[in-house]
Amino acid sequence: MSPNTTPEARRIERAAAERFDATLSIAPDASGLEELARNLEHRSHRRYAERPVPPELLQVLFACAFSAPSKSDLQQADIIHVSDAARRRAIVETIPDMPWIMNAPVFLIFCANNRRIRQIGEWRGKPFVNEHLDHFMNAAVDAGLVMMNFIRAAEAAGLGTCPISAVRNRADTVSGVLELPQGVFPVAGLCAGYPAEAGRITPRLPLNVTVHEDRYSESELREKIEAYDRRRHAVLPYRRQRNIERFGEAPFYGWSEDKARQYAVPERTDFGAFIRRQGFSLK
Ligand SMILES: Cc1cc2nc3c(=O)[nH]c(=O)nc-3n(C[C@H](O)[C@H](O)[C@H](O)COP(=O)(O)O)c2cc1C
Repeated sequence: MSPNTTPEARRIERAAAERFDATLSIAPDASGLEELARNLEHRSHRRYAERPVPPELLQVLFACAFSAPSKSDLQQADIIHVSDAARRRAIVETIPDMPWIMNAPVFLIFCANNRRIRQIGEWRGKPFVNEHLDHFMNAAVDAGLVMMNFIRAAEAAGLGTCPISAVRNRADTVSGVLELPQGVFPVAGLCAGYPAEAGRITPRLPLNVTVHEDRYSESELREKIEAYDRRRHAVLPYRRQRNIERFGEAPFYGWSEDKARQYAVPERTDFGAFIRRQGFSLK
């Protein structure tokens, strides 16, 4: 650590060590240190204080969210702010194992919207000839970027958030509750509010697994993942093992065992059919 360090530079170094077991250093006079530190210190929050989120702040966060880049400036994302308790309850009933959704001061659904661009084509008398998987993906990526911008802005404003892909568990029901028309589909929900607790940094795979130089590489991948399993287990062990009835109790239960077990069980296998019903051919 440099002797001329600043509190923000120290936060960056500390968070990088916790997150990646990496020794990073940054010049104390580099710009944007506060934002870099906040990015590195990200954590999802599932418990919220009773303090409400001011409506005018929420509008600013929406504006920040929709300042995200957009594929070809097509602007194929929407947010549905679910403020009606009955509608929220109807969504939460499809996700009984996530009570934090009902308790969050703010609940949003980030949607991909391929409908608007088709409507514009019709109004302007032009054929729509881009009915293919890439078009679906562009809208989904736009929605993801808008959600990420919202998360960053919310964290800067002192809020905590938790994305909820489980809104896709019963996408048909959730779409019905939100009255989503053809061409619009939910990508993820997001809980937001002032955090009730500090939370903690979740360790990630080391950067030498996920960052590649010039070409894709899997050099010593298995050893690196096993080392990550051990590092993560030392600071954030899983509280319970998945599917013990089928796989037994593992003497050492790390991230890779958890993820292997998670994907040994089919998940949202009907989502493709739902998306086709929403008007996407996915060709
Ligand atoms: C697209 C997406 C969907 C997610 N869905 C859920 C969810 O349904 N329920 C939940 O509790 N957390 C959900 N999460 C939060 C992740 O579990 C969390 O980001 C991950 O465990 C890493 O923790 P961290 O965000 O604190 O670093 C989701 C995250 C993303 C990016």
